[in-house]
Amino acid sequence: MVEARITVNGKSTPISPAAPQTTVLDFLRDRGLTGTKEGCAEGECGACSVLVARPGVNKPTDWVAVNACLVPVASLDGQEIVTSEGLATAGEPGTAPALHPVQEEMAVRGGSQCGYCTPGFVCSMAAEYYRPDRCAHAATGTDADAADGHDAEHGPNGFDLHSLSGNLCRCTGYRPIRDAAFAVGAPTEDDPLAQRREQSAPEPAATEYTRDEGTFVRPGSLADAVRLLRERPDAVVVAGSTDWGVEVNIRSRRADYVVAVDRLPELRELRVESDHIEIGAAQTLTEIERRLDGEVPLLAELFPQFASRLIRNSATLGGNLGTGSPIGDSPPVLLALEASLVLADADGERVVPLADYFTGYRQSVRRPGELIRAVRIPLPLSPVTAFHKIAKRRFDDISSVAVAFALDIEDGVVRKARIGLGGVAATPIRALATEAALEGKPWVTETVEAAAQVLQAQGTPMSDHRASSEYRAAMLGQSLLKLHAQTREAVSS
Ligand SMILES: Cc1cc2nc3c(=O)[nH]c(=O)nc-3n(C[C@H](O)[C@H](O)[C@H](O)COP(=O)(O)OP(=O)(O)OC[C@H]3O[C@@H](n4cnc5c(N)ncnc54)[C@H](O)[C@@H]3O)c2cc1C
Ligand code: FES
Ligand code: FES
Repeated sequence: MVEARITVNGKSTPISPAAPQTTVLDFLRDRGLTGTKEGCAEGECGACSVLVARPGVNKPTDWVAVNACLVPVASLDGQEIVTSEGLATAGEPGTAPALHPVQEEMAVRGGSQCGYCTPGFVCSMAAEYYRPDRCAHAATGTDADAADGHDAEHGPNGFDLHSLSGNLCRCTGYRPIRDAAFAVGAPTEDDPLAQRREQSAPEPAATEYTRDEGTFVRPGSLADAVRLLRERPDAVVVAGSTDWGVEVNIRSRRADYVVAVDRLPELRELRVESDHIEIGAAQTLTEIERRLDGEVPLLAELFPQFASRLIRNSATLGGNLGTGSPIGDSPPVLLALEASLVLADADGERVVPLADYFTGYRQSVRRPGELIRAVRIPLPLSPVTAFHKIAKRRFDDISSVAVAFALDIEDGVVRKARIGLGGVAATPIRALATEAALEGKPWVTETVEAAAQVLQAQGTPMSDHRASSEYRAAMLGQSLLKLHAQTREAVSS
């Protein structure tokens, strides 16, 4: 087996002697690259953000910012990363390196005080700086306000502030950071990281990395993965590691045998067929968002509300469904879309409607050794859709309650209603009684108020530190009233 290595700031570096669960953050810091900081070790602050070269959506390679505190370094065998130190370019011997344009703007616009968060901010900013379609939305001349999509969250240079939604700053305040983000120009032609986008990203290396603490395996194919899972019933499956990484860091969970599925080609397809869309379970949420580009409006509404850009750059649909969490954000949406899961093991595949998948708190019909290979969404899509996530913060927060609607309304009458709920029972559920209360009825205030009463009695919401059961129930009813208020004119016109 070839020695596991990672390219850091252009230099190939052996991963050994890191343990299989060692994070990229600890690996870097152990090698003196202390620009990458630990703030929280659970994906919340972005102080650990670094850039990874991944297969691109619009170019052969995208520079993608990820939370180094969550990703095991063994998972980046054969891959390339850039840290805040690597963004600056070396000058003449004896002179200081030249700052990268995002570092320069942060410095001159006062975007850094104590500096603890700054390396993470500049890495997230650099990923957005290199996003291939960013400059397509930039303003020209002096007419900045007329730029396509230029608003409080998008700069005249096309910079999307949501790219920084996973980065926290305690002392500077966000105004100067925003000023720096909105001031960066386009990469120059001789910019080495811009040029790097034109070549393919590194292929995922088939890896078997064993130390005293355990083994990290990246199989080369789905067939190899399901065979290993049959041979090793104790194996822990990992995709983007945004849930697993928190378990390792905060709850000290360890696994003797980890099987990584995030780069399996069979789990990374996205196909639009005549009667369904199939999304590979190991596509990251950012990839799905950019590849579908609004084709499934309910998913397009979900993504910006799901965690932060940093988390979405690693998190997968397979991982969100694999946890079986009753407060995951994708299940309500996928329930409303009537999605099915393609499950695969060493004996073959089977397709299970998501509505039949969850069987209890964090339990499902998925058998030991079975992987979620893909999610299938039937076509055509219902035209009236909405995703309402009720959480304490607008971004980067877990839902207290989540409600997804998909309605067919023809001639003012609800022909079909599908409603998915999260956070109100031990599993994500369909609001079947509410669907029945709407179907065949006119989409008018009387129907909606009566159905809202039914909706707020659905599920068995609990009280916890996020919300009381009464609040959760009330939010369900409000959610339907809100949908009606937002759509009644469009539907009746
Ligand atoms: C700061 C932060 C914010 C978050 N915010 C949100 C949020 O807003 N909404 C939300 O829903 N979640 C949120 N999460 C949770 C997490 O990001 C999601 O659940 C994510 O989708 C997990 O995907 P992953 O690929 O990282 O999973 P991993 O951590 O790699 O795996 C999670 C679980 O899924 C299993 N698994 C992974 N892939 C498969 C597969 N193909 N087949 C079978 N099992 C599989 C693994 O065995 C593991 O048990 C947040 C997490 C963090 C750290
Ligand atoms: S250390 Fe806070 S997100 Fe990684
Ligand atoms: S500059 Fe101090 S935390 Fe951001």
